Amino acid sequence: MPYNVPKLTDFSPAALDAAVAALFSALAEESAAAKGEDGAKAFRDRWMARKNGILAQLNKLWLQAAPAKAKREVGRRVNEAKARVETEVRSVQARGSAPSSPEQRLDVTLPGIRRPLGAEHPVLRALDEIVGVFKAMGYSVEEGPEIETDYYNFEALNFPPNHPARDTQDTIFIAGQEAKPLRDRLLLRTHTSPVQIRTMQKYPPPVRVVCPGKVHRHDTPDASHSPLFHQVEGLAVDSGITFCDLKGTLDHAMKALFGSSVKTRFYPSFFPFTEPSADVQVSCFFCGGKGCRTCKQTGWIELLGCGMVDPNVFEFVREHGYDPKKISGFAFGMGADRVAMLRYGINDIQLLFQGDVRFLEQFA
Ligand code: DAH
Repeated sequence: MPYNVPKLTDFSPAALDAAVAALFSALAEESAAAKGEDGAKAFRDRWMARKNGILAQLNKLWLQAAPAKAKREVGRRVNEAKARVETEVRSVQARGSAPSSPEQRLDVTLPGIRRPLGAEHPVLRALDEIVGVFKAMGYSVEEGPEIETDYYNFEALNFPPNHPARDTQDTIFIAGQEAKPLRDRLLLRTHTSPVQIRTMQKYPPPVRVVCPGKVHRHDTPDASHSPLFHQVEGLAVDSGITFCDLKGTLDHAMKALFGSSVKTRFYPSFFPFTEPSADVQVSCFFCGGKGCRTCKQTGWIELLGCGMVDPNVFEFVREHGYDPKKISGFAFGMGADRVAMLRYGINDIQLLFQGDVRFLEQFA
């Protein structure tokens, strides 16, 4: 028979004590029977619900009903009951939320869960190292978008529409742009050179910047080609910049990256945006120039393209302060993936982009 709060007629201390004793024994019994979180909640509601819980009933049936001269005695007992019920409810709640099975219990002697530590990707590390070498020479860093317009990627770099030099840099074109003029059509940039134009639009001369970033080409993947790769572009424009500055700068950079004993050589080449243009080769630092597999028995490793900025390129940014009669500059672009492979002894460029943890964790 569940406990019900009785109406009191006898308010003598003895009768009150008896009523309280009955209440406490019901409390003890129900508290022992309350199991789990649900049980604890039902127990709390039955005893402490604001509206019709047992404590609320005590207020009404005992305290308010008491004649004035018994109020003190009744009040003291109701307060005592309140304290006791609250303590009991708290301990039932604590019991209810504690794990009941041994498997649920926390075993503090077990080893913790170790979170695997990431490592810097070798390409990012190479980009950082290259940028670091130029920062030390006073260059600042600029970035440009990976989705470029035809204008920045080709036209302003002196690749006229239909010029065959565009064929060497086929890429992915964003679909459905036939209605736009050619120069506004979007593509995945094939090199970081468009950042040269963006930089010159942003800052008047003199400028010295390096521009690291991701580039895309229509290339079939193999051990040395990937449709996605990385470059660091460089641009220095000022009054009186000569090919000697270009040579000295790049010779220093190659020594900083590959060791002070490497030699550099500048080989005539062609890029639409530089005149004259050169490919830079460094003496093979694996065989010391004698000839090995890495340098394909030539003793030289080709690392970057460079040249003196073509006056035609300055014409595209002339209104930003670049008058080819007053200023000159040099530019260069190098493959960062290639640098990473040479520096860290990686023989297949695909490894850089496959995301295989067994490969990547070697750089941790
Ligand atoms: N953009 C060229 C490429 O991706 C590399 C390059 C060559 C950049 C000569 C330059 C440069 O800035 O002067 O093949």
